[in-house]
Amino acid sequence: MAKKRKKRKVQNKLLIQKNKTNQVKKKKKERKEKKKTFIIFLIVAFFFLIGLLIYENLEYKQIEYNPANNNTKIEEFISSFKALETYNNSEIINFIKIDDFKLDNVNKYLDYRSKYNLDYEVIVILVNNNIEYNKTISNIINHKSYKLENLIRYINYLNKYNLSIDDTIFAVNNNLDKEDIKLDNTVSNFMKQKYFISDNLRRYLNYYNKNKELSYKEVVTRVNSNLDKTFYKDVSPTDTSKGTLILVNKYYYLSKNYEPKNLVEISSKHGTGYLTKTAYNAFIEMYNDALKENLHLYIASPYRSYNRQNTLYTNYVAYDGVKEADTYSARPGYSEHQTGLAFDLGTTSNHHIDQFENSKEFTWVKKNAHKYGFILRYPSNKEYITGYIYEPWHYRYVGIDVATYIYENNLTFEEYYAYFVK
Ligand code: DAL
Ligand code: ZN
Repeated sequence: MAKKRKKRKVQNKLLIQKNKTNQVKKKKKERKEKKKTFIIFLIVAFFFLIGLLIYENLEYKQIEYNPANNNTKIEEFISSFKALETYNNSEIINFIKIDDFKLDNVNKYLDYRSKYNLDYEVIVILVNNNIEYNKTISNIINHKSYKLENLIRYINYLNKYNLSIDDTIFAVNNNLDKEDIKLDNTVSNFMKQKYFISDNLRRYLNYYNKNKELSYKEVVTRVNSNLDKTFYKDVSPTDTSKGTLILVNKYYYLSKNYEPKNLVEISSKHGTGYLTKTAYNAFIEMYNDALKENLHLYIASPYRSYNRQNTLYTNYVAYDGVKEADTYSARPGYSEHQTGLAFDLGTTSNHHIDQFENSKEFTWVKKNAHKYGFILRYPSNKEYITGYIYEPWHYRYVGIDVATYIYENNLTFEEYYAYFVK
């Protein structure tokens, strides 16, 4: 009996021990589970945060994207849309490519596209400007002279003056709207002139109103040559980047320090002083060809520095007074001689420029100078344009093509410059 009891006791003890072990194991397992859950939570939280960051970033790209500045790559931008599946529409890409694309207007763009099937550019312009598509706009965009970049201007001009589509398009293409000028008969007559410059239209109209006796052609000539401005008063520095086509006159001056590049000394048989290399080489050609005809050209006055011109002009003024001196001498800074591209001609036997007109040499030069790139810079009957009396001795290098055009069309350099160079 005692043995049996002892055995049971031992058995009980073992059972308790086993229970205890089980409980420890359970607790351990529980702790492990908790740890696992926590780690999973951490991993999930980590990916969630990463996801959130990417999402925020994509959204940022969409809002910040500006196709006009290329800071964001368009591919990145488009893929941000795809990633978000915001717009699952291939049309959108065609709109995004357009400079004035606005994210806020996307739905309207797509709506216009499906309703009217217009070009993407046209749609962007219309929608951005809150313009409803209608028959008039259809007529504008189908007009043969229509230019996409002027679309809004056509619409505004049409709303303001209510002219025909033809006239509206013509007016805007010629920038009349920029000056707020209505296309009427006078305006259209000016526009037909050969040397009409649209930027000058307002000035033509003003000049015409004060000088109604003048022809349209004459008004264009005068305004292009700045005659609506005052000599030596409405002045500005000349654009020296024009090279051999630099304009120096009573409106455009050279600085005191301006010295032409590539000045070369002229040979004593041709004269004394300096000219730019280009002008001098052209003179040599002309000189040699004239010589073949037994004519003897001589450069009586080539390049003149600002200071030299100052001395000359001051002396003339002392002698003749300002008014008279201004008709034949440029003020310092305003002389073409300072460009190194102009010279006064005499003959080898007679250096006096005021007698050049009576020489055989002059007759030849008058007919031939343009073939070497020279123009008679101050012609007769054009004094009111050039601001100087007729100077049969003064020639200016502009290059063969330009000189030939000026010669054949009987222009002054002022007129040529305004239309072709400025
Ligand atoms: N005789 C010209 C106009 C000059 O002085 O430059
Ligand atoms: Zn001269």
